[in-house]
Amino acid sequence: MSDVYEASADARSSAFLRSLSEYQALYERSLQDPQELWGELAKQFHWQTPSTGPFMQSNLNPALGRVSVTCMAGATTNVCYNLLDHNISENRLGDKVAIYWEGNCLGDSRKLTYQQLLNDTCRMSNVLTNQGVKKGDRVAVYMPMIPELVITLLACSRIGAVHSVVFAGFSADSLAERIMDAQCCLLVTADGFFRGEKMINLKQIADDALDRCREREKGSKGFSEPKCIVVRHLGVAPGGPGVPNRPYTPAKRPCPNLQTPWQDGRDLWWHEVMHKAHEEAPPVWCDSEDPLFILYTSGSTGKPKGMVHTQAGYLLHTAVSHRLVFDLRPSDVYWCTADIGWITGHSYLVYGPLANGATCLLFEGIPTYPEVDRFWQIIDKYQVTLFYTAPTAIRSLMKHGNEPVLRHSRHSLRVLGSVGEPINPEAWHWYHRVIGGGRCPIVDTYWQTETGGFLLAPMPFATPLKPGSATFPFFGVVPAILNEHGEEMKGEAEGYLVFKQAWPGMARTIYGDHRRYEETYFQKFPGFYFTGDGCRRDSDGYYWVTGRVDDLLNMSGHLLSTAEVEAALGAHPAVVEAATVSCPHSLKGQTLYCFVTLQAGHTFSRTLVAELRQKGKIMRRILRKIASGDPDFGDVTTLADPCVPSALFADRCRTTV
Ligand code: WTA
Repeated sequence: MSDVYEASADARSSAFLRSLSEYQALYERSLQDPQELWGELAKQFHWQTPSTGPFMQSNLNPALGRVSVTCMAGATTNVCYNLLDHNISENRLGDKVAIYWEGNCLGDSRKLTYQQLLNDTCRMSNVLTNQGVKKGDRVAVYMPMIPELVITLLACSRIGAVHSVVFAGFSADSLAERIMDAQCCLLVTADGFFRGEKMINLKQIADDALDRCREREKGSKGFSEPKCIVVRHLGVAPGGPGVPNRPYTPAKRPCPNLQTPWQDGRDLWWHEVMHKAHEEAPPVWCDSEDPLFILYTSGSTGKPKGMVHTQAGYLLHTAVSHRLVFDLRPSDVYWCTADIGWITGHSYLVYGPLANGATCLLFEGIPTYPEVDRFWQIIDKYQVTLFYTAPTAIRSLMKHGNEPVLRHSRHSLRVLGSVGEPINPEAWHWYHRVIGGGRCPIVDTYWQTETGGFLLAPMPFATPLKPGSATFPFFGVVPAILNEHGEEMKGEAEGYLVFKQAWPGMARTIYGDHRRYEETYFQKFPGFYFTGDGCRRDSDGYYWVTGRVDDLLNMSGHLLSTAEVEAALGAHPAVVEAATVSCPHSLKGQTLYCFVTLQAGHTFSRTLVAELRQKGKIMRRILRKIASGDPDFGDVTTLADPCVPSALFADRCRTTV
């Protein structure tokens, strides 16, 4: 615990912030005069019209009225314009590499300059507009980690449409649920992709999801099935590979046998519509508080929450925090390994870094393919200077020992980052000593899908680091630790982590359910934003996040709801009751431990355990039908007892009035 790491005088001398006192002075300024500091920082961006109000306005107390947060009221801007056009015209970055793409297979790569990214983004904006997508419309995005994913997000932003990215590892059910919740009018996906050796037929899953949307919405007025744009990534173009139908990213290892289901009239090939589209598209100016995107996160009731992020505050928060916390230099090559399906990919692979004109690496594959040294090999190949990953990845690579790391130089590395869960000291030390060769500070960044950007994080060369602590608050962020009665504890303390005032990047609502937003984050401690995390503050004022205090658990850096798992288990005919809790896991951080009480007459067996593991996959689809009063359960033959849905349905009819 007394472990403290400080940067050398030499390393400090060229950093943005060089000492803890410099950080503290700036932090004080950010609280005393937010307008002055943020106003200064906002100057790096283009505002079509200036803000007419104070920098931030908010009410975090539901008792005083609707919870609301506004940043730079009255300002209009366009996030995509700032990331691309503005960086090209004002900062002359047209020829700078915006994205290095490294595919799943060795040797599969592509690069896009800021100018090329702008051209493709404009084409895609026109494609969206041609498909009838307008400002404020929602677009679902279900894609592998390929440049087209970034292009799609930026194109949405350019026309003021709201993207809703669904992680490409999610099931058809999850995708369908999210498409329906946000009433998306269009889906962008790809034919398929490889994760290591495993091929995923993504379009097949997307089609299953669209089928589900259609079944579910059958007869409901005003619903029209989303159109679907498909990137050909694995499939072979008619006429064989290499047909010049840029822009698209063909994989080096195409799959001639890939069966891509297709529905004429609904489905469109990306390269065909892009080919026909214009390369110029004017940005649509948006209000500072117009929605930029929706991203779903787990909720303790089981239904995912569509967190809504907006324009000006999110842009500022992600850009400024990315620049300062990674001490970004113009020549840096920045690599965030998170998938764009998660908030980390949104804020610190797309928006923050591109706003700063950074060169970013986008990696499609996994750390262990073709071998366990892939990360370190990529770092050398691109001379990566800033590397941002999750403790779960570090732990899973640590178990292969030092040799795969030491095969590579990693000399380019300057700053390392960690996110997603508390990093255990053992992993911290390995990351620091072996990966970083003892030279690189580790920025442990604490934040959430809801917070948009970092809330607690060190300044890499200024803040003395303690392994496992996300150290101190970011500018404009005011943490507090409360006890069960909502009383603020000073000094050394342990309790609930809350934030006392609004910050620019925070989510403004839950899509379609503002009440749930107020209840989840502001009801328990009115006037404070409640994180759901426990936290300790040590005698030096360092914050140590200890983990979730609600019914969510953090597995491999991602939140899961225990309620959702319990509901799925409880639906098995052999189960009377189920309770799930988390317990520590050496690789995943936490894992699920499920306690199940069986009906009399049932006994535990391998088969039963296997069935229970399958539960979530099989039952949810049917449960949803039962809940919505639809007796057409579809295929029930895989159920242990195919009669259960009808029994439950009858029960539902008895209990719902
Ligand atoms: C946890 C990920 C400790 C925390 C950006 C939070 C962390 C949840 C850290 C949000 C960290 C994230 N130290 N815990 N550096 N970063 N967490 O929404 O429990 O996927 O509430 O956002 O991850 O997860 P989410």
